[in-house]
Amino acid sequence: MNPNRRTTIKDIALAAGVSPQTVSRVLNDRPDVAKTTRQYIQKLIVEMEFSPSAAARNLVRQRYRRTSFLPGKIWNDDEGHPIQAHGGCILYDNGTYYWFGENKDTPTKKNSLIGFNVEAVGVSCYSSTDLYNWKNLGLVLPAVKDDPRHELHTSKIVERPKVVYNDLTQKYIMYMHLDTEDYQTARVGLAVCDQPAGAYEFLGSFSPNQADSRDLTVFKDEDGKAYLLHSAEWNKSLYVGELSADYCQTTGVFTRNFINASREAPAVFKRQGKYYCLTSGCTGWDPNAAEYALAENILGPWKIIGNPCLGPNANQTFFSQSAFIFPVSGYSDAYIAMFDQWKKEDIGSSRYVWLPIRFEGERMVIEWIDEWDLSIFGS
Ligand code: GAL
Repeated sequence: MNPNRRTTIKDIALAAGVSPQTVSRVLNDRPDVAKTTRQYIQKLIVEMEFSPSAAARNLVRQRYRRTSFLPGKIWNDDEGHPIQAHGGCILYDNGTYYWFGENKDTPTKKNSLIGFNVEAVGVSCYSSTDLYNWKNLGLVLPAVKDDPRHELHTSKIVERPKVVYNDLTQKYIMYMHLDTEDYQTARVGLAVCDQPAGAYEFLGSFSPNQADSRDLTVFKDEDGKAYLLHSAEWNKSLYVGELSADYCQTTGVFTRNFINASREAPAVFKRQGKYYCLTSGCTGWDPNAAEYALAENILGPWKIIGNPCLGPNANQTFFSQSAFIFPVSGYSDAYIAMFDQWKKEDIGSSRYVWLPIRFEGERMVIEWIDEWDLSIFGS
């Protein structure tokens, strides 16, 4: 065969001894192909370097096109693969949304301390202009395979990546929870990049204000200052620490909040001059009741208001855990709360729950909705 010629569906069919229709069915994820035939054809597709034409790729995109949010349902990227961006965050940059999160697309294993876990794969990034349809941009900070001492080694914990843009240095700064498999090291990892979508350069890790740090988030305020919020003191308290002007270290200014209340998974936003902090309780992959607090100053004091969730299973946060809250561009007073619906026995198949926030005065309500779209925020 001419080496410059693209492999066609017919070539694969010939090599596999099946009809081109069968190859098409495999390419289109149709269920009516025997498992062994499917696997054999998939192997040939890789070996023979088959890549679908632009027209075929467009067809796939049309097939997976979404026009609404379906909380808790499988959410595929525009090529039909389930999105792998757990414990994530959204960065809005130049008209594009970037969704960063943990790629957990690897088998779940038993872990003596926390029950279940997966090997680290790295931080993935997806982009979208409408928030429904996401293009996979790949791993922007891959785990390290060949150096067991590296903090990003596949045997380690890489969780809850959060990315903010620093206007001063014009760099994108990624914070994440780094840990050893037993969750005893509890450090903050840092990576930077000149573009939003990577590849990020890993700078190393530190202990913010000499404290341990597990679940975390980063909040960038309107004045350009940023803060690291993290569970500390063995998850018993939540620290809010001011970050340096380049966002690469803590300044030493910090407060201890929700002392001995064991809150984690912080998600923070600002509305009408007030800071909101949504957290979960501390039960690993298992769901519990969310709680939010309000403050005039991000460093506190924080006033606990209660559980903002409403509807079936609101006391278990709809079987999910907070990840991030972000304002929607082009709408006023529009915020989306992102949650992870963990499936602890097969963590890579965990789902996402995105819900709109409704405000009653300054109180926030996050009500379960089976299906919704951005028109809920008005025009
Ligand atoms: C949760 C935490 C997750 C993950 C998990 C491990 O409490 O929010 O990010 O660390 O524990 O059990």
